[in-house]
Amino acid sequence: MQKDAWKNDEICNLVLNRKFAHMAQSDHFKSISKCFEATSDVKSIIDVGCGNAEFGDVCKNVRYTGADLPHIIKKVALVQRPSFNYIEFDVDKDDLSFLNNYDLVFMNGFISEMKNPIETLAKILTVSKKYVLVHRQDVGETTYLEEYTPYDQNLIATNSTVSRNELQKTITDCGFTLDHMCNSFSGLGSKKTFLLKKDD
Ligand SMILES: C[S@@+](CC[C@H](N)C(=O)[O-])C[C@H]1O[C@@H](n2cnc3c(N)ncnc32)[C@H](O)[C@@H]1O
Repeated sequence: MQKDAWKNDEICNLVLNRKFAHMAQSDHFKSISKCFEATSDVKSIIDVGCGNAEFGDVCKNVRYTGADLPHIIKKVALVQRPSFNYIEFDVDKDDLSFLNNYDLVFMNGFISEMKNPIETLAKILTVSKKYVLVHRQDVGETTYLEEYTPYDQNLIATNSTVSRNELQKTITDCGFTLDHMCNSFSGLGSKKTFLLKKDD
């Protein structure tokens, strides 16, 4: 078994060959729409950890940019959706100030992949301009990490659960307000979708 699934080149073929329904047809799309309804005047979106950039397909009348690790952009996103704009970056190493150029930072299953989810969220909030929308993030009593194998293959990734209290403190400390939170999937579950708005 190999660690750090997303940093391993082999993940590219797994993403390219995945057989999920398009997110616009999935049962968790409703939670994203609900959060979007609470925004106003969003003209540019950056999809952090964009993967195959499927979200770009539903971003109408806004400037969409996908951002991900260099091999994911080159071997997945540009292969499947060559017409979008992309930024190659590594959240663990790079300066994130480019996020400040966008009205809304979208993260679908991104913070949840981090070994240091709260610190990563804080770094992102520090440079974000207006809205941050987090999708499919486990929120619970404590912060902890679990291992899982994306696409049930032999690469190991992390799924983080963040403590509700730590999350709220980070949001407040970074000058944001939790505007809206709902279950990512219909029914019960710990996976949440939430919209953060920068304080005036
Ligand atoms: C679970 S996938 C989600 C992909 C896409 N948002 C979706 O929902 O289909 C997590 C994404 O985060 C990206 N990622 C993981 N670690 C990263 C890092 N250190 N820097 C930038 N992107 C990273 C992965 O390459 C992957 O595309």
